[in-house]
Amino acid sequence: MRVLVVGGGAREHALGWALDRSGAEVVVASPNVNPGLDRLAKAKARLEPTTPGPIVEFARRERVALAVIGPEAPLAAGVTDALWKAEIPVVGPTKSAARIESSKSFCRELLAKYRIDAQPKFATIANVDEVTSRVKAFGEPFVVKPAGLTGGKGVWVQGADFQTAEEGAAYARKLLVSGAEGVVLEEKLEGEEFSQMAFVTDSGVYPMPAVQDFKRALEGDLGGNTGGLGSYSQRDHLLPFLSKSLRERAVDVLRKTAEALREEGSPFRGVLYGGFMLTSGGPKLLEFNARFGDPEALNVLTLYEEGDFDELLLGVATGRVDTTLLTYRLRATVVKYVVPPGYGSAPVNGKVITLDEPSIMDAGVRVFFGAVEAAGAGQVTLATSRGVALVGEASAIHEASKRVDDALAFVKGEYYVRRDIGTKADLAKRMEHARRLLAPGAKPSPLPLSVAPPDAPPSSAGTAEQVLVP
Ligand code: AMP
Ligand code: GLY
Repeated sequence: MRVLVVGGGAREHALGWALDRSGAEVVVASPNVNPGLDRLAKAKARLEPTTPGPIVEFARRERVALAVIGPEAPLAAGVTDALWKAEIPVVGPTKSAARIESSKSFCRELLAKYRIDAQPKFATIANVDEVTSRVKAFGEPFVVKPAGLTGGKGVWVQGADFQTAEEGAAYARKLLVSGAEGVVLEEKLEGEEFSQMAFVTDSGVYPMPAVQDFKRALEGDLGGNTGGLGSYSQRDHLLPFLSKSLRERAVDVLRKTAEALREEGSPFRGVLYGGFMLTSGGPKLLEFNARFGDPEALNVLTLYEEGDFDELLLGVATGRVDTTLLTYRLRATVVKYVVPPGYGSAPVNGKVITLDEPSIMDAGVRVFFGAVEAAGAGQVTLATSRGVALVGEASAIHEASKRVDDALAFVKGEYYVRRDIGTKADLAKRMEHARRLLAPGAKPSPLPLSVAPPDAPPSSAGTAEQVLVP
């Protein structure tokens, strides 16, 4: 099967790799084609991901049987709709269904309308004149989010990115003045974050292993919010702080959201990604993405059993998944991204690093290339985004983390990497955090219920599970 992959980062390299090893022929449309995709692609077109016309033309010329869209921008630009018009099946929702990611206000209002019980308290503000009074009425601590797409970087959290309510209000005003279509205020949730992705199509919702992403730029969860510096997954596809039934509650949110979208006349075919916070009141939704997460895709695709990945994806695109193709190995995985110095605040452009790929592979670690360009034998140039992802696997998370650290001995040059991802010390800290949160009598929410919008669902401070998987 000939398959078009739209996008040229590490997530798309992993998608291309999984397709290639299932026997598919991969062609790529992206302005930047990283060295990994470059190696495996049968054809490439350096196209902007937000230009439906040229992408469809390329797909037609290459006679692809299927298209898979990696990033969010082409979804929001209607590339899926244009490909379907040309009768090319697509993994990735239509522009209308992709609003679940591209508009945070649409997402919050949909969940409120269908009373899907996973919402923090929130308010949407469209007018700069309303900011002061709405912030005042909202209560603290809170979070400010631009309503549209910002690559995971526009979210400001009180206590981390700003301190006083006035600073938060000033940021909200700045966003609105500089053209944001709206701003969402949210109650600041306290807890452990996790990502639950699922294939969603007409025949159902098919969850993937749960993953924890590390969004902050620096070790110890310091620094600014980023696209994610790395991630881990656990052997049993749960997480150290996430029991089977808590995960099932998150999957249930995905199911109900898929139903709500269908009900609204915007059925979803693709990957639905729920970014959740496990709180004392259970899993709460931080955001949806309408695509594979990056780096989360690297954990999950590494676990996908060798087999008919192209057939699985074709099933997602055409509405009927063959469930025998949903096989993930029972192994722990850790991803660590090599990024330029200063990533997350002032990344340095153009650093050349040396990568001894055969030795990394010999250490049992896989390499996926992100925003890098080949710079001669065994060398790549980092840009200002995430550069190279190393993926280790083992039976325990901390062993997979150590494998990646060992492999980093074969990556030389000036770069930054979060070594704390998946270490025993970091996992213990997170489990202790969850244990405290889920303890009987833990405070369910720092905000009074009176600030909930009129149509918000009832508060869900139910009894939280206390099963912690060591
Ligand atoms: P988002 O793009 O909405 O996922 O936000 C990016 C990051 O900001 C999340 O991964 C969280 O770390 C943080 N964040 C977002 N919303 C909240 C919230 N309501 N409470 C606490 N942290 C949040
Ligand atoms: N890792 C978060 C994202 O893909 O948006």
